Amino acid sequence: MTHFLDILPTPTDDLRTMIDHARAMKDARGGRPKGMCDDEKPLDGRMVALIFEKPSTRTRVSFDVGVRQMGGQTMVLSGADMQLGHGETIADTARVLSRYVDLIMIRTFEEQTLLEMAENATVPVINGLTNRTHPCQIMADIMTFEEHRGPIKGRRVVWSGDGNNVFASFAHASARFGFDLVFTGPKPLDPDPEILAACREAGANIEIVRDPMAAVEGADLVVTDTWVSMHDPQSAKERRHNQLRGYQVNAELMGRAKPDALFMHCLPAHRDDEATSEVMDGPNSVIFDEAENRLHAQKAVMRWCLGA
Ligand code: CP
Ligand code: NVA
Repeated sequence: MTHFLDILPTPTDDLRTMIDHARAMKDARGGRPKGMCDDEKPLDGRMVALIFEKPSTRTRVSFDVGVRQMGGQTMVLSGADMQLGHGETIADTARVLSRYVDLIMIRTFEEQTLLEMAENATVPVINGLTNRTHPCQIMADIMTFEEHRGPIKGRRVVWSGDGNNVFASFAHASARFGFDLVFTGPKPLDPDPEILAACREAGANIEIVRDPMAAVEGADLVVTDTWVSMHDPQSAKERRHNQLRGYQVNAELMGRAKPDALFMHCLPAHRDDEATSEVMDGPNSVIFDEAENRLHAQKAVMRWCLGA
């Protein structure tokens, strides 16, 4: 079964093939991401279940549109409305859904839920974000960087802020795509040491630099994300804002990166918290290209999972 659960366990050649395929599918549409006019219909006759246990705009819409463009059909399911949200096990849900659909994408809380779904499904499962990682986002981000600046291998990527799920997938990607990754943030919000260890063991070069100004020196790409993720308690908001204020991506911080350094944010953003609107809407920001590329990258991921 070809699941797409995370970047690190996926072979490097397959990841590269998916990025190149995504780019080719995007190019074939001639700058028109919208519409159902793809010549190829590799998902013709296939049904895809999209399960959300957390809110979503980009993941939900880009998967739904991507499946339809490739000739397949979707079913968007809210975890709360399923028996899953009322005590049915993940394993039984996976076995049942596998009798109806050809592919399952799930956005959930615990990593364990995703793993149990994958273990018990007899169709491919895609990780649409967990508390731990967000691999589809980073596939789109790699694609976006390379579209604008060429190969990401050997480049310096600096993450400023919370060492969260999106950072974790950047860490995975640094091992697979060969870029240098710098984390800058307050110690209590450091990335999971187990994730860092696994990435380093796989050859990643990941540094932690506390001073954000020193960290972004020479950066080719500066990235941030919300200071309070969907799985974080709202009660942590004030503390996190105090801890992270010094790591805001603003014009002064971007000024220390290379002059052509790109700025990325997976969105949704809290404007003027983790990044200023000046940076988000500035000439080096590619945030809406990232959002569009979710569509193209996930189409390639789904085709890889289905061998289609
Ligand atoms: N970036 C991202 O995954 O956005 P959504 O939460 O809107 O899906
Ligand atoms: N870190 C954020 C990403 C949202 C796409 C969250 O998990 O809420």
